[in-house]
Amino acid sequence: MDPERFIPEIIFLVPGINPGCVRSGLQTNSKLMKNTPNQITETRPLAGDADQIDPNLENDGVDRRGFLKCMAWAGTGMLWTISGGVLASKILSPPNAAAADNPMGGFSFVQISDSHIGFNKPANTDVIGTLKQAIAKINALPAAPDFILHTGDLSHLSTPEEFDALDQLLKGVKAGRIFYVPGEHDVLNDNGKQYRDRFGKDSKGDGWYSFDHKGVHFIGLVNVMNLKPGGLGFLGHDQLEWLEDDVAPLSASTPIVVFAHVPLWTIYPDWGWGTDDSAQALSYFKRFGSVTVLNGHIHQVQQKIEGGVSFHTAMSTAFPQPQPGAAPSPGPMKVPAEKLRSVLGLTSVNYIQGAKALAVVDSTLAGA
Ligand SMILES: [Fe+2]
Repeated sequence: MDPERFIPEIIFLVPGINPGCVRSGLQTNSKLMKNTPNQITETRPLAGDADQIDPNLENDGVDRRGFLKCMAWAGTGMLWTISGGVLASKILSPPNAAAADNPMGGFSFVQISDSHIGFNKPANTDVIGTLKQAIAKINALPAAPDFILHTGDLSHLSTPEEFDALDQLLKGVKAGRIFYVPGEHDVLNDNGKQYRDRFGKDSKGDGWYSFDHKGVHFIGLVNVMNLKPGGLGFLGHDQLEWLEDDVAPLSASTPIVVFAHVPLWTIYPDWGWGTDDSAQALSYFKRFGSVTVLNGHIHQVQQKIEGGVSFHTAMSTAFPQPQPGAAPSPGPMKVPAEKLRSVLGLTSVNYIQGAKALAVVDSTLAGA
């Protein structure tokens, strides 16, 4: 096997925090499912009403649906680990998550998304309150993240007041820095000028950029310009040219994290949940052994592994949206008040040096 090319393998681990999950067929340190490159292994939403175990329907000993439901029910998250070419996931309880993240050094960062400051409809009349909860959750982590990624829709209507409020709120987060990419709600009326002036000062073009952090290459992309209602995201020629040049000098063993607002994989094209020219962008990553793509926009957790690329979308801090095709159209989804915080959340990401591990942990605001 090409040593630079990793073949993903999913390993479900349960640290014993949830007997129900263990009962569903998950075992500590058991390798339960393998997949090969270019094969979609899993596309699964994180259920908001996660309180029961579903039967295993895939005859491989892994009850993935139950697994994900357990995860939310336990108020925990999923840890994705890429280690020595192996991608693994496991459940971590919040108190142990960060402590277990960096046994060999490395770093962590947190992704938040879709804060929609200014939104005040019944789906969530207090988006400031729920963002504050997300910030409190970050600040309660045993180890402060090195930085935050905000994957867009900071505001609801791109007003100065909304941007001000978001900016002020995030000044309270204990993290070294906050990196942003815009959502379509941040580039209304002015093609994103105000957004770039405030949150994308060092970016190129419409707001794209890259940076390196402790051996990992991060790329923030913009795929929300000129978005038509229900239309797919779009990167455009200039950004694609820049992207090709940006990754050209990198070694194939460099771990890469790409973040953008609209998913770079096609989740549901009827609702515009995908990016029209993402295939071109992804073609530039084919030679890399570890590529993680983090998105927002759809306000729910969806994940897919295809080839060497792990795709992941984050929950919103503001309001949920329906699962793909489960409603006539996308948009804010009202859930019972007591369930709202179980469908909002954030994503912690961890990189472990030496073990080449990159991990993604989703956790909800329930109990925050
Ligand atoms: Fe959004």
